[in-house]
Amino acid sequence: MSESIKQKIEELSKKIEEHNYNYYVLSNPTISDFEFDKLLEELIKLEKANPEYLRTDSPSQKVGGQIAKEFNSVKHKYPMLSLGNTYNETDLREFDERIRKSGISDYEYVCELKYDGVSISLTYIDGILSQAVTRGDGEKGDDVTANVKTINSIPLKLRGNDFPKEFEIRGEIFMPKKEFLRINDDIRNQLIEEGYNEEEIYEKQLKNPRNATSGTLKQLDSKAVAQRKLDCYLYSVLGDNLPFASHYQSLEAAKTWGLKVSGDMEKFSSIDGVLTYLEKWDTKRHTLNVETDGVVIKVNSYEHQRFLGFTAKSPRWAIAYKFKAAQVSTILESISYQVGRTGAITPVANLKPVLLAGTTVKRASLHNADIIKKLDVRIGDTVFVEKGGEIIPKIIGVDMSKRAAGIGGNLFEEDTQPTQYITHCPECGTELIRSEGEANHYCPNELGCPPQVKGKMEHFVSRKAMDIDSLGSETIAQLYEAGLLKTIGDIYELKKEDLLKIERMAEKSANNLLEGIEESKKNPFERVLFAIGIRHIGETTAKKLAHYFKSIESLKSASLEQLLEVGDIGEKTAKTIIAYFADERCIEIIERLKVKGLQFELSGEQLANKSEKLKDQTFVVSGVFTKFNRDYLKKAIEQNGGKNVGSISGKTSYVLAGENMGPEKLKKAEKLGVKIISEEDFIKMIE
Ligand code: IVH
Repeated sequence: MSESIKQKIEELSKKIEEHNYNYYVLSNPTISDFEFDKLLEELIKLEKANPEYLRTDSPSQKVGGQIAKEFNSVKHKYPMLSLGNTYNETDLREFDERIRKSGISDYEYVCELKYDGVSISLTYIDGILSQAVTRGDGEKGDDVTANVKTINSIPLKLRGNDFPKEFEIRGEIFMPKKEFLRINDDIRNQLIEEGYNEEEIYEKQLKNPRNATSGTLKQLDSKAVAQRKLDCYLYSVLGDNLPFASHYQSLEAAKTWGLKVSGDMEKFSSIDGVLTYLEKWDTKRHTLNVETDGVVIKVNSYEHQRFLGFTAKSPRWAIAYKFKAAQVSTILESISYQVGRTGAITPVANLKPVLLAGTTVKRASLHNADIIKKLDVRIGDTVFVEKGGEIIPKIIGVDMSKRAAGIGGNLFEEDTQPTQYITHCPECGTELIRSEGEANHYCPNELGCPPQVKGKMEHFVSRKAMDIDSLGSETIAQLYEAGLLKTIGDIYELKKEDLLKIERMAEKSANNLLEGIEESKKNPFERVLFAIGIRHIGETTAKKLAHYFKSIESLKSASLEQLLEVGDIGEKTAKTIIAYFADERCIEIIERLKVKGLQFELSGEQLANKSEKLKDQTFVVSGVFTKFNRDYLKKAIEQNGGKNVGSISGKTSYVLAGENMGPEKLKKAEKLGVKIISEEDFIKMIE
């Protein structure tokens, strides 16, 4: 009896695998979806009742189910390199020239489309998919095997038996364009039902198929991956002692093992052939159900590949040709203005939705007032929109012929108005300013303009500032909307009962958050100074100021001259510091934070002899310093137990060199083998 159940499971599995292959790899189904689902259901039922016969490579495993906590990082056996890029025929002919000049002859090229997704490396051992790893940094990637197993066109088990015992095959996982549009439609319908407006819907939809692929693969729940029908093209076989003479041959073999290799791959005996391929696909690619951004050209023979070898980053035997950015035209319906965290205003074009290289585009960047004026973009115009790779689509011009001809027969030049750039902040109504030489308008209401206030708080809690990681930007926004957080001064007055009023805030998260806030009070003065967000004061400047002035009180009363003495602080920065302390609202925030126990002066330890880190070391400080004041550096040497000496000798441990150090000194140091270090090196030594 049990023998027959086992047999039944095996038969069903085989049948389903065959249909999977026909459907997903060959795109040639031989049964209906309904019949297929029934077979799969039957298999799942049998496996559930007889778990002893459930195999890890069973086709039922494609529905997912495994939930990971995080992804393990795995070292690639062969690094995953990138490719050099070319953008035109000349570059490509140069590539060909380099190959010819290397001395090889009778070489062939294989052209493949460059699929725009997420690269993956699959390992098959004894014909079973054993591991799937993302590219990561090229050396190490994430083990996403459970997720990849749900991709229908990736077989868990190979066909036939003439595959190498162990090999890797690499390719690109992508979200088919139709699937992308389907998911976005679903999201849209769902959100409309929930009462969201167009703007919010746009924000929540998937931005493009590539991001969607990468986001999907990062899901910890493999069932969620199974629901989004990802696909994959494989394009590179790797292994020790592979029985193939060429790339083309290896992929032809991979096809026979049931792996999905694109049928659009072609072989050419010269670069001229390659150029015909590029020309053909430049437009034809838009008809495919997958996003492509170029063509990959590879020297075919493995022997030639070995001979040509690699540079540090990429193979010399392959190159990518990138297609020119896709363009469409559509109507500019309106212009909105966004206020960034720093108060910078960005004009955004709201467009009549249009499909551009596989993505529905509804908005595009309009850069700034000058560009709007230069392009003479007007509401109602037909505009050209361009999208290149990752970049947000941008308006590159106006179709003036359309304006002249009238839009929809009723909008002529005289009906349109030159665009008037806004004069007041759309968020808080404050009059905008534009400093000389700056392209952008700014809202100067730093402490009252909502996006700026939220931005300041995000900066305050960020890792390099107060490092309160339990207070994310979403929580900040919620607390702000609820009126509980108006300035950074309010952070330390948050109470548990307030927090619990926030949507999705559980007791545990509230406790965590309060603990994180309490803990942050221990941060030293320099971090607090950085965190309060005085314009132009970065991490390094904050550190320098903290050590130079030692307390907020003396920094507050510093004159312009005193500030300029610190070194690397220009007049602009010095003036912002003075303006900051002249603002009563800023002083009030500082006073409140002080009362709450934040550090506004160097600690006793920082003030006293700091450390013995430089014990027995002698330094010659020479040259002009840009980041730290020379006296500060000398003092720091002493405070850390080191000694300053005037001239270089064999006993000198280090020359701390700024710019323009005398050539004689340099020569001497080199001759005596004294180590020369920069201010950054030095700061690292004492940190
Ligand atoms: S071959 C040594 N072939 O493009 C490099 N890559 O910039 C081997 N890609 O990371 C890559 N389609 O993610 C190759 N037909 C194709 C490709 C392709 C897309 C991606 C891949 C790679 C990147 C290289």
